[in-house]
Amino acid sequence: MTMIKFPEKFEWGAATASYQIEGAYNEDGKGESIWDRFTHQKGNISNNDTGDLACDHYHRFKEDVELMKEIGLDTYRFSIAWPRILPAGKGKINQRGIDFYKSLVDELLQAGIKPAATLYHWDLPQKLQDKGGWENRDTAKYFNEYARIMYKEFGDLIPRWITHNEPMVVSMVGNLWGEHAPGFTDPQKALQVAHNLLLSHGMAVKSFRESGIDGQVGITLNLNHVYPKTNSTEDQLAKDYCDAFNNRWFLDPVFKAKYPEKLMSLYQNEYDNPFEMEKGDLEIISRDIDFLGINYYSRAVVEYDESEKLNFKTVKPDGVEYTEMDWEVYPEGLTDLLLRLNKEYTKAPIFITENGAAYDDQIAEDGQVHDKKRVEYLEEHFKAAKQAIEAGVNLAGYYIWSLMDNFEWAYGYDKRFGIIFIDYENEQTRILKDSAKLLQDVIAKNGLDK
Ligand code: FCB
Repeated sequence: MTMIKFPEKFEWGAATASYQIEGAYNEDGKGESIWDRFTHQKGNISNNDTGDLACDHYHRFKEDVELMKEIGLDTYRFSIAWPRILPAGKGKINQRGIDFYKSLVDELLQAGIKPAATLYHWDLPQKLQDKGGWENRDTAKYFNEYARIMYKEFGDLIPRWITHNEPMVVSMVGNLWGEHAPGFTDPQKALQVAHNLLLSHGMAVKSFRESGIDGQVGITLNLNHVYPKTNSTEDQLAKDYCDAFNNRWFLDPVFKAKYPEKLMSLYQNEYDNPFEMEKGDLEIISRDIDFLGINYYSRAVVEYDESEKLNFKTVKPDGVEYTEMDWEVYPEGLTDLLLRLNKEYTKAPIFITENGAAYDDQIAEDGQVHDKKRVEYLEEHFKAAKQAIEAGVNLAGYYIWSLMDNFEWAYGYDKRFGIIFIDYENEQTRILKDSAKLLQDVIAKNGLDK
C-alpha cells in the first residue's frame, strides 16, 4: 500500500467555538451574549435548544484536553467568549473569565497542543447589541479594545490568533436571512455589519503588530467554490455574482483593498448609499496578515435567474451525496478553492480552520460510534488538500470541525459534526468515534494510505 504524506511541519488539529461547547452561560460573572438572548426566545432554534449547558466544556475542559492528547492533536482551535472577558462588551474586565481561558491554555500547553484562539465566533455581548451591535461602527473600536486585552493577557501563551470567524455568516445569516442572532432581515444592515466586521479585523491586526507578540494573526473566511450549472454566458454571470457575494466580498477587501465592483454597482442601483465607509477603511482592512484561515464544507452550483436580486439561484445537482446538513460532498471543490486562493489572493500560509460533516451518528451495540461516512468524507478531503499542496499551495495545517458534537446554531443539537460523540442523555459521556481514530492514525503517520 502506498502512502500519501503531508509536509513535515504540517499541523493537524480540531476546532470548536465557545457558545457551541462551553455551557455555563451565566456563571462566574459572564455577561449575556446575543446567542443567549436569541436562543432563549422560543421558535428561533430547532427544538428550542440553547447553549446553556452545551457540552459543559466549561467544567469538563480537562477531560476534553485529555481526549485531544489521546488523538494526538498538534493544535486546537477554540474561541473566546467576549462576554466572559468583558460582560458589558467594554469597560470592566471579568477576571474569572480570563482565569478560565488561562486554565484551558495551561492544560493545552502541558499536553503539548498549540492553542489557536478565535477572538470572535459570534457571541457578541448583548449590551453592545443594545447599542446597535456590529451595525454600529463603535463596536469595531470595542472589539479592538477587547483584542488588546487578550493580546496582553495571552500574547506569550497563544501563538495563533484568528480575529473573526466567517464574517459572511455573521453579516448575512444573522442580519439578512435572520436565521442566526441577532435575527434581522435587513440587506443594508447586513452590508454595514460586514464592513464593520472587516474594519474591526484590520484594527485588531494593527494592535497585534503593535503588541510585539511573536505569533501569527489572520482571519477565517467561509469560502465555497462556485460552479456554473452550464457553460452558458448567463450561468457564468450567475457564478460571478454568487462568487462576489459569498467569497469576494470578504477576500477582496482583505487582500486587495477593494469591494467587488459589479456587485457594488448592483447594490448602488438598489440603494443610494449601500453602507457607510470612511476614507482609509480599506487600507486598514487590507493590512498584511500572517495566514488565511478557510472553512470549507461544500461547493455551490448556480444558474442564472433574472427574478433573483443578485441574478443567481443555487441548484442541487442530482446523483451526488449529501450530508445531514444537505450539503453536497464535493472534495474537488477544496482543491479548486485552494488553487484559486494561491493564484489570485495569497502566498501566505493557508490553514483549513474548519472542515467536516454532519451525520446521524448512533452508538452501536459494541458501545462504539462507527461513523463510516464521516471517515470517508475526511479521507477524501485530506486527499484533496494534499493534491493542492502538490500543485504548490502553501497549506500549513488542517483543523477538523469539530472536536466534539455540539450546539449547531439554528439546528440545535440535531446535527452532529464531532469526531467525539457526546451522549447528551447520559451525563454527556464522551466517546471517540471511528473518525477520531482515523485522525489519530493520520496524525501518527502524518499521512494516510491511498
Ligand atoms: C461553520 C461555523 C461553525 C459550525 C460549522 C458547521 O459555519 O463556523 O461554528 O457551525 O459551520
